[in-house]
Amino acid sequence: MTWEAGADLVVVGSGVAGLTAALDAAEAGLRVVVVTKDATDAGSTRWAQGGVAVVLGDVPGDTVEAHAADTLAAGGGLNDAEAVAAIVAGGPAAVGRLRERGALFDARGARLDRTREGGHSAFRVVHAGGDATGAEIERALVEAARSLTVLTGHVAVDALKDASGRVAGLAVLDDAGRPGVLRAPAVLLATGGYGQLYASTTNPGTSTGDGVALALRAGAAAADLEFVQFHPTVLYTGPAVGRRPLVTEAVRGEGAVLRDRAGTRFMVGRHPLADLAPRDVVAAAITRRMAETGADCMYLDATGLEGFAARFPTVYASCREAGIDPTREPIPVTPAAHYACGGVVADIDGRTAVPGLYAAGEVARTGLHGANRLASNSLLEGLVVGERTVRAVVEDLAHPRTTSSELVAPAPAVGVADRGVVQRAMSAYAAIGRDATGLATASDVVEQATLLATPLDRTGVEDAALTLLAQAVLAAAGTRRESRGCHVRTDFPDRDDVWQKESLLVTLDDGGRPVVGTDALAGAA
Ligand code: SIN
Repeated sequence: MTWEAGADLVVVGSGVAGLTAALDAAEAGLRVVVVTKDATDAGSTRWAQGGVAVVLGDVPGDTVEAHAADTLAAGGGLNDAEAVAAIVAGGPAAVGRLRERGALFDARGARLDRTREGGHSAFRVVHAGGDATGAEIERALVEAARSLTVLTGHVAVDALKDASGRVAGLAVLDDAGRPGVLRAPAVLLATGGYGQLYASTTNPGTSTGDGVALALRAGAAAADLEFVQFHPTVLYTGPAVGRRPLVTEAVRGEGAVLRDRAGTRFMVGRHPLADLAPRDVVAAAITRRMAETGADCMYLDATGLEGFAARFPTVYASCREAGIDPTREPIPVTPAAHYACGGVVADIDGRTAVPGLYAAGEVARTGLHGANRLASNSLLEGLVVGERTVRAVVEDLAHPRTTSSELVAPAPAVGVADRGVVQRAMSAYAAIGRDATGLATASDVVEQATLLATPLDRTGVEDAALTLLAQAVLAAAGTRRESRGCHVRTDFPDRDDVWQKESLLVTLDDGGRPVVGTDALAGAA
């Protein structure tokens, strides 16, 4: 028996973008329901360490324009400059509202502390609890959202449409596999990324690409999916699967340096910013050095940093748990899958090409990140686009529209492969350093493991999403025959400006399989 309920706006996901939007929507007088497949704070937001990149006007010499320029430089020529300018400019007000909602940032007196991360030309990243910024933001937002209706333990399955093709609701399954329908003229996807496509990731178990899969099935486009950002430094404790402890870039921002096993500083001379080069450069350099030296990891030397345990309590605790004292010995580190630079094509107001379907945060591709996200721009994007989306929803709902009571869902059967098979194939052939042969091998492996099935519970929905994302990422990565940003092809090692400004669009064909095109993004959002 399917239960039914109604709302003006359903927000899927309870991280920074989702809760910011839900709180704003409630303040705007909308009936809002938040749907989250796990506990409210189980998404990626709470694991973010470094902070929020924002120009508040009190760092001499730093400007919003400089922040935008750093974002564009990191993005490898694929950013949307207008989106960059608008989102970066929206940062100060959004951070102000977050503080009004109770988030406490580290400060000396009235002035917020700043740190620096890779690719930033200034100390402009505000942080909380030392290296626990995401945890503090999630705490404040969850606390502020206590009066909202939050449906935990419910996974979003499909957007439902009315006869005109407008989104009119959301199909969900609870933890016991019981189906439900939320009727609503607006559905906002804020479901995070797809780091769980890889065996080793900084992302929690919730990051399975559900939002991108749902949007594709609803007829939206995705773009830039091949740009999976690997964080250069997660704590290495031997081969491991699942979420790995992050070692924030702010450790390098405050003076730590990378060394190989012999103690050589291999980032010096590779990039003008050396250890503080943009993340794609550092992650690729670590991967290369590991291959050159046959080592399983590189080393982050933070032994010269004063007050490490107080400044980086989360990293310190992870190291101590692994038997490492970062104040006395270098931290063993490797890259791991960290952030989806691409996602559902949406404008900076969260609108997708499907009327009534919105996307904000990591699930969305707004054009802010291009081929490689600048560190600490993700919480910023979640805050700014989360609130802009609610303004768009309010505006859109003001237009009268015809509604029908009958709801249409996509065909329920989808391709589902074993998650371990997908993760192993993606890690072996579609991580940093890809080539045509490996990508084709991974596609074959995923293809052979894929069966048609109707997901009956959260695991089924997640496995189906990971399968579709694997197919889509492999197709896009195989199509882009150049290296740019996070997409490193060993068979096409150089940037090729034929691909400049060509974001690869992914849509589904009638059989539900990803198709890659290079059409202009105009009209896709
Ligand atoms: C970090 O703290 O290094 C990660 C921050 C981010 O991904 O933006």
